[in-house]
Amino acid sequence: MLTKIDPKTIQDNVFSTIGSDWLLITAGTKERCNTMTASWGGLGVLWGRNVATVYIRPQRYTYEFVEQSDCFTISVFDESWRDALNLCGTKSGRDVDKIKECGFTVVEGEGGAPYFEQARLVLVCRKLYWQDMDPDHFLDLEIDSRFYAQKDYHRVYVGEIVEAYKRG
Ligand SMILES: Cc1cc2nc3c(=O)[nH]c(=O)nc-3n(C[C@H](O)[C@H](O)[C@H](O)COP(=O)(O)O)c2cc1C
Repeated sequence: MLTKIDPKTIQDNVFSTIGSDWLLITAGTKERCNTMTASWGGLGVLWGRNVATVYIRPQRYTYEFVEQSDCFTISVFDESWRDALNLCGTKSGRDVDKIKECGFTVVEGEGGAPYFEQARLVLVCRKLYWQDMDPDHFLDLEIDSRFYAQKDYHRVYVGEIVEAYKRG
């Protein structure tokens, strides 16, 4: 059972939650949505609002859903869902019904934004800003050559956290 919480009460260490537990980024509608695993991102404050920042490469199917939606959601899971997160990070929704394969139940947040009932923590984010990474702006050129050989620069999305839910 997920309970609505104030984002300020979240006790997670953001480095381990994002970098080690990983996130599922989901967008679309309850009827038609897509999700993907992410281990890069940020939680913070910008323009006086609580925000989540995610980084999505343009070839991801999820990118199309995030582009077409006003909101995206972030779902965090406990360790027992590691196989599901691996699946969502290695298969594309273009080829596999990942949500069905994982056994997730889709729930609607604000504006119908889809997230998963099985999560331990959920953030519903309303898109405020996007920007594609610009190769001219890398100060450490090793990053460009190491991560962007295909020139598939991430699109950065900053979303205002409009709802947060926690298990228990
Ligand atoms: C641990 C992990 C972290 C990932 N982090 C990101 C990320 O932050 N941004 C991104 O664009 N892709 C990331 N990916 C890759 C996508 O999850 C992967 O390409 C996925 O299959 C895309 O699915 P889709 O085509 O259905 O959107 C990550 C994959 C894994 C396994």
